[in-house]
Amino acid sequence: MDTTSPLLELRNVAKQFGGIQALVGIDFDVRPGEVHALVGENGAGKSTMMKILAGVIPEYEGTMVWKGRPVRLRNPRHALDLGIAMIHQELSVMPELTVAENIFLGRQPLRAGTVDWARMFREAEAVLAELGFDHVNVREPLERYPLGVHQLSEIARALTSGAELIIMDEPTSALSPMETRHLLELTRELAATGKSVVYISHFLEEVTWVADRVTVLRDGRKIATLEARKTDKQELVRLMLGKEAAFFEESYMSGRDVEDPHAGARPVLTLERLTRPRAFSDVSFTLHAGEILGLYGLIGSGHFELGEAIYGLHRPTAGRILLEGQPVPAGPRRAIDRGVAYVPPSRRSGLFLEKPIYQNVTLPWLAQISGLVPQVPKEVRVTDEVIRRVGVRPPDPQKEVLYLSGGNQQKVAIARWLVRPPKVFVVSEPTRGMDVGAKEEVMKILHELSEAGVAVLLISSEPETVLAASERILVMAKGRIVREFVGETVTKEQLLHAASGELAEAR
Ligand SMILES: Nc1ncnc2c1ncn2[C@@H]1O[C@H](COP(=O)(O)OP(=O)(O)OP(=O)(O)O)[C@@H](O)[C@H]1O
Ligand SMILES: [Mg+2]
Repeated sequence: MDTTSPLLELRNVAKQFGGIQALVGIDFDVRPGEVHALVGENGAGKSTMMKILAGVIPEYEGTMVWKGRPVRLRNPRHALDLGIAMIHQELSVMPELTVAENIFLGRQPLRAGTVDWARMFREAEAVLAELGFDHVNVREPLERYPLGVHQLSEIARALTSGAELIIMDEPTSALSPMETRHLLELTRELAATGKSVVYISHFLEEVTWVADRVTVLRDGRKIATLEARKTDKQELVRLMLGKEAAFFEESYMSGRDVEDPHAGARPVLTLERLTRPRAFSDVSFTLHAGEILGLYGLIGSGHFELGEAIYGLHRPTAGRILLEGQPVPAGPRRAIDRGVAYVPPSRRSGLFLEKPIYQNVTLPWLAQISGLVPQVPKEVRVTDEVIRRVGVRPPDPQKEVLYLSGGNQQKVAIARWLVRPPKVFVVSEPTRGMDVGAKEEVMKILHELSEAGVAVLLISSEPETVLAASERILVMAKGRIVREFVGETVTKEQLLHAASGELAEAR
């Protein structure tokens, strides 16, 4: 094949879901050896377009051309047989199985008719090492590991599938900066060996670094395809939003004064020497009314597990959690009743995808809203108000969460807790998967809550997120608090250094 003709083309592709026009008149192509990025706001149509390419959505209008020939994909298996693999935004791993099995799901190496475990383990180890992830034991169940490893398993699965076109739908949303770096470099290496990659991300710095070309979608339409070298973040955001945008991310790059105006405020949540083996040890801090405290750490540093413990999802083996001076009894129900709200880092674990938005929002509040008899109109009314506040699109309480775009699902997970403002709001990765505008909306909501006196614990592995909102920042590494930044200028680099420097020393 001549290298200038595309590996894959979409011609005049359109897709409707019920009344929603998800894609209109899309022309798109991927060249051999190219990294082609796809950007756009939440709900712009990126995942829909990729699901068409990967055979997940077989019904659509228009034509798909693979190596010069029109094809009609019947299912993902068909796509894989042709040479198209996809890493899904919503992970499709099986946590009970070993890491190696997840990587080789459905195509385990065989020997004399049975699974060749030794070879599977060896090959799984090799591919993870290539991703810079050699501390994972591929013989252990995947569920023993944090979300970043789940994401890496899915990436490794696509990489070992032998596909010529690999679609990555937000592959780095649960990865640490180091892992992200590895993946970006690996993506360039893939391209250098002639493979093609479609790369979807809301992190525009990644996009301009890794891509050859960038296509911008807005409201289901293709707005432009640009040479990555000739564009920048500013232009991409303008094309994505259709207007000049305030730059939420600019503020942190130059460093930011972090003050502690809450030192004298009323303590709401106090952790005393909290310990849970393999997760965190000897963690103590106090969170005050009206404060936004950032808790930053690399994936695996124990910060997410700490959030779970505060919400009562599991019991620490030592130490105490005090809410307004009183110990919190174990269990999320009791935590909620005492005024603790929690957003988990993975939206899948907190949402019932097949249920309508309103049931997801009112779940913690059924006793207050409905009493013993369900009162759907009231639930819908309550939901309508809070999903409009966070800008869920479409703002339809009856819509099943499954049908929302990834970023909009995350907004539902936050909206739930606006029904009755909590005393303590523990949010893990609140802006994961969100576009620039939606991130800003969420930060605004956290600020409004803190101004109303809510104590916010913002847990994240994205330096941008903690820097954008926090007034004080604690850094965790290997289960311990290793640094506190108060009343000084903090940069992304300093955070990374604090979080990873300690790691290096501990080894
Ligand atoms: N199975 C479905 N049924 C109904 N509507 C859907 C379905 N899948 C997607 N949509 C709608 O199509 C539109 C495009 O969604 P899509 O998931 O492609 O967005 P996206 O660009 O990937 O967004 P995000 O950045 O949030 O992941 C949205 O309005 C979404 O609600
Ligand atoms: Mg998507």
